[in-house]
Amino acid sequence: MIRLLVGILVFVINVLYRDRPYPRFYVLETVARVPYFAYLSVLHLYETVGLWRKADWLKVHFAESWNELHHLLIMEDLGGNDRWIDRFLAQHAALLYYWIVVGLYLVAPKSAYHFMELVEGHAYDTYDKFLTENEADLKAQPAPQIAINYYRDGDLYMFDEFQTAVVAESRRPAVDNLYDVFVNIRDDEAEHVKTMVACQATDTTNMKSPHAPAFAASDAEVVFAPGEQQAVAE
Ligand SMILES: [Fe+2]
Ligand SMILES: [Fe+2]
Repeated sequence: MIRLLVGILVFVINVLYRDRPYPRFYVLETVARVPYFAYLSVLHLYETVGLWRKADWLKVHFAESWNELHHLLIMEDLGGNDRWIDRFLAQHAALLYYWIVVGLYLVAPKSAYHFMELVEGHAYDTYDKFLTENEADLKAQPAPQIAINYYRDGDLYMFDEFQTAVVAESRRPAVDNLYDVFVNIRDDEAEHVKTMVACQATDTTNMKSPHAPAFAASDAEVVFAPGEQQAVAE
């Protein structure tokens, strides 16, 4: 089922958008970020009903969705969402994928993370191929301001937050032209893959916010006893 879901997404992106890269990336970024919305929704639900609290996971998944939002904003800046049909297709597919991943995450969270590992891996390959085929053209074009703000000039807290395999404030990529921007997006997708792998590990206490090295995971991951609704100091 997971391979089928990924296969449908890859088919749409690879075949229908073969010669239109920016609309293709717009669809990819619209659909491929909703699993993070689904994880957040289900984790909030668990906390609402008092089953458990995973503060770090909520924080990291939100930062991942924030990163993908900026990929989407860059594609919109490049004209990827100009056509109504592309917005219609992307947003309806996103709605469908959201509910599928909510259901999958409720019954099989590791499978839901594996699904996203495959999607992010596909995104990496897609951008890597695009970079190889369009290097000279991309290097001649300026970086969109939204990319400059996200990768260099703005508050980089959220940029650091989604990369659980990287020491905070250690990755500061160049953003001098459009080629740099796509290199950064491609490398972001690789960081998402690493985070998704960490989420599937047996010992998930290592999946922590990069900004909380001294923060005990046990403080954030609390499994409440049945009927227990205790406050937890963080
Ligand atoms: Fe992305
Ligand atoms: Fe992604």
